[in-house]
Amino acid sequence: MAKVMVVNGPNLNRLGTREPDKYGTTTHAELVDMVVAWAEGLGLEVEVGQSNEEADLVEWMHTAVDDQVHVVLNPAAFTHYSIALRDACTMVTDAGLTLIEVHISNPMAREEFRHVSVISGVATGTIAGLGVDGYRLALEAVARRVG
Ligand code: DQA
Repeated sequence: MAKVMVVNGPNLNRLGTREPDKYGTTTHAELVDMVVAWAEGLGLEVEVGQSNEEADLVEWMHTAVDDQVHVVLNPAAFTHYSIALRDACTMVTDAGLTLIEVHISNPMAREEFRHVSVISGVATGTIAGLGVDGYRLALEAVARRVG
């Protein structure tokens, strides 16, 4: 069974109450349950992690490479400036693994500083602006690619 890790970056533990007009009202715990159910339906083995620390996200990318795990990543604010996370993501896709970047909101329709993603250039693909359903679409993309 193919493995996938769903990784959420800073402040996403506050989903449900954080700017619900932009991120909706689904809590992180509810999102985890949804992701687990979606992955199960697609025949994927899934682990979900969230951290507010850049180093944790970098280390999870290293683990993905070492354990051959595909990645669904919402880098949150790190999207816009973390070269360390970009470099770690490069190792994931260079290892032949799929890495889908997900954003709940559409950063391109928001402030200008959100228009740059340092992650997109090394991701397999990006899904943005479709709410938490973006995670389901990302898992489907992984499932199709590992086919
Ligand atoms: C986000 C968009 C980012 O700009 C923001 O910093 C986030 C969440 C999204 O899911 O829409 O924290 O990645």
